[in-house]
Amino acid sequence: MQKHYTGLIERYRDRLPVSKATRIISLCEGNTPLIQLQNIPRMIGKDVEIYVKFEGLNPTGSFKDRGMTMAVTKAVESGSQAIICASTGNTSASAAAYAARAGIKAFVLIPEGKIALGKLAQTLMYNATIIQINGNFDQGMELVKEVANHAPVSIVNSINPFRLEGQKTAAFEIVDELGFAPDYHCLPVGNAGNISAYWKGYKEYATDRVCGNRPVMCGYQAAGAAPFVAGHKIDYPETVATAIRIGNPQSWDLAIEAQQESGGWFDKFADQQILAAQKMLSQFEGIFCEPASATSLAGALNDIGTGKIPEGSKIVCTLTGNGIKDPEIAMQQCAEAKPVTIEADLDAVKRAILDCL
Ligand code: F0G
Repeated sequence: MQKHYTGLIERYRDRLPVSKATRIISLCEGNTPLIQLQNIPRMIGKDVEIYVKFEGLNPTGSFKDRGMTMAVTKAVESGSQAIICASTGNTSASAAAYAARAGIKAFVLIPEGKIALGKLAQTLMYNATIIQINGNFDQGMELVKEVANHAPVSIVNSINPFRLEGQKTAAFEIVDELGFAPDYHCLPVGNAGNISAYWKGYKEYATDRVCGNRPVMCGYQAAGAAPFVAGHKIDYPETVATAIRIGNPQSWDLAIEAQQESGGWFDKFADQQILAAQKMLSQFEGIFCEPASATSLAGALNDIGTGKIPEGSKIVCTLTGNGIKDPEIAMQQCAEAKPVTIEADLDAVKRAILDCL
């Protein structure tokens, strides 16, 4: 009989820093679907295979759960009673959930007014202590690093190396499923932990000869928050994709390494392009991701269009978070498509249907 899935640490135990005695803090994260796009490639008239790794189907709705299961497992193993992070919303939701699971305390610093509603609601429900700051993520990050020197709390941002260990398993899953690494891997870049973790995962699998190839890594940012494209940090990052509203990425060197070693590149896209990709994915493929996540597809479509990513390529785009997390943007995206209200009778319903056909 097949053993039921118990999370990514159990699945990739031999490649992760745990021992037999370690108490694993898990919510059965990972094992997310790799969905091949069917309609969009046809619509753009290009011979490419595009797969999306839908990380929005993790337990708290984002890829952060991969890193958090590892980080909280190790925090608990070292005797920590409390964890802390700065966040644009997803890390805080994930940290709060895993802390609840472990029975420890979570403190989260978030930029006031710049967190998607679903993320705030989750974090409250998981019972974390939320500290809102009159400042942005980058300022929150600096404060968290300082306060951890003075208070008995473990940082669970991606500067915690265990986060990247957990997150690298997404690359393992892709290779396990396809049987090879894709030619191109596209993903949104904010604090730059994820691109670094994927590259680590692909390299570990390639050198172990699980597969013979590695992808070119394409890191995409929002135009108003694109330090990697500018080549320096940005003091006042701004974008509708609040998850990646970051100007001073903590994993700068690792991300540059991923780009250079893989022969990849960074690029930036306007908020309108990001939102258009989000809507396209929902409308034509039935996949609803949050705005920041759609940056990966916006970038891939742009680079396929210009030929930078050639025909015949196999491409994976990571969709980092679930669209349900940001209902406000979704409603704005569909402002023209307001639901009609009618009388509750058969004729009225028939008329409403016939009007739309
Ligand atoms: N996509 C989403 C949905 C995110 O929440 C984040 C980061 C990223 C992409 C970028 O990933 O930072 O590894 O480059 N969110 C962090 C947070 C910063 O606090 O939730 P990265």
